[in-house]
Amino acid sequence: MENIQAYLTSNQDRFIKELIEFLSIPSISTAPEHNSDVAYCGNWLKEHLSSIGMKTSTVYATAGHPIVYAEHCEAGPEAPTVLFYGHYDVQPIDPLHLWTNPPFEPTLRDGKIFARGSTDDKGQVFLHCKAIEAMLAVNGTLPINVKMLIEGEEEIGSIHLEHFIREHLDLLSCDTVVVSDTPLYGPGMPSLCYGLRGLCYMEVHVTGPNRDLHSGSYGGSISNPLQALCEIIAKLKDSYGRIAIPGFYDNVKELTDEERLDYSRLPFNAEEFRKGLDVPGLCGEYGYTTLEHISARPTLDVNGIIGGFTGIGAKTVLPSKASAKISMRLVANQDTLDIASKFTSYVEAIAPPTVQVEVENLHGANPVLVEKTGRGMNAAKKALQEAYGREPYFTREGGSIPVCLLFDTILKAPTVLMGFGLQDENAHSPDEHFSLDNFRIGMYASSLFYNYLAE
Ligand code: BES
Ligand code: MN
Ligand code: MN
Repeated sequence: MENIQAYLTSNQDRFIKELIEFLSIPSISTAPEHNSDVAYCGNWLKEHLSSIGMKTSTVYATAGHPIVYAEHCEAGPEAPTVLFYGHYDVQPIDPLHLWTNPPFEPTLRDGKIFARGSTDDKGQVFLHCKAIEAMLAVNGTLPINVKMLIEGEEEIGSIHLEHFIREHLDLLSCDTVVVSDTPLYGPGMPSLCYGLRGLCYMEVHVTGPNRDLHSGSYGGSISNPLQALCEIIAKLKDSYGRIAIPGFYDNVKELTDEERLDYSRLPFNAEEFRKGLDVPGLCGEYGYTTLEHISARPTLDVNGIIGGFTGIGAKTVLPSKASAKISMRLVANQDTLDIASKFTSYVEAIAPPTVQVEVENLHGANPVLVEKTGRGMNAAKKALQEAYGREPYFTREGGSIPVCLLFDTILKAPTVLMGFGLQDENAHSPDEHFSLDNFRIGMYASSLFYNYLAE
């Protein structure tokens, strides 16, 4: 391992130059005007995976954005096979004016690299590529069989990945899946994530009169769609912070006493958390702690409301239409389609009869809980322990990775969520960045992981 370490150190500057190139490609999956950039990025990655010595490297077209697949399976049938999963697509960049540097002109500052996709997930994908490059360059072989599946649609719900997995069961067969797309528990505090939330993303469209109206001539007799929408939204949660949709909690797997004890032992200061966000107080479902609220309990959030007059000044208008984008984070064993149907029925039931309401399901993801033990987890635990000099925490995360449950249900392989980001690296926000320390340590941890897996 010393040689690997030395290789990683002496090539660090080049790695950063290459990462800058990867991060410069605006692979925003949700924006149709960036489709060719997403395709270009997939191709760039495919070429890069060839250049580090992967035996095969292919771009698979889908009905959406391409999937990159590479493999190096020369360790023999006795050796375990690991499937690395990550994503090369990124989130949109708005609001652009809040970025210190343009989001696709990666900039090094204070030991961090700033760019859209740096922590989520290109930087974390890239550190695995470099760990593999180092092992191949130093040893000429890999201790295990490695497959890499890197998609371009994670940020839009991995729409075409399930189909691809079902069509390529042999290609993707493996003993363990490893994903680096989650944060460490804190700086210098490695963690293994054993739970991710799911997502159910809905849009509620409310239609009132057939055109915008003068609020003086019509106001008072005609339901205002924005008002009606707000009434609907107000009924989605009760005064205990619980979600009021009938049956919403039916399949929620409660935290065990042991888990709650583990949770209470994690270093977390709710007051610091509050102060860091400049809010006068925290809220949350009655009977649970803040840490549980943000990772182990389901939630409902209004992401945006569209409608009416929002220009400068005042306009007296009774708008014809309003809509809201509402998402729910789910926990094991809730099902995104089941929740979508319960949400739809409830919203239709509580909608004022004086407006028309339509409910649309935008996308979703199922939650996942993984085993804390097993060959992959143990290898990851040892690797993190060695690379960071301390034992990893076991944590659950509030975000979602739509494909994770499928590794379990379709590929029948356990997943190891060994991430190297930090909670406050502004994923999905302006000034997204990735710590170069974690990039460096992550490369080493990743190479240790592949080695320990072979033992
Ligand atoms: N890397 C995140 C998932 C994540 C976020 C894990 C925070 C742990 C903590 C991923 O890229 C992501 O943003 N997922 C989306 C999925 C959605 C668009 C279907 C999410 O969670 O909003
Ligand atoms: Mn991600
Ligand atoms: Mn993301």
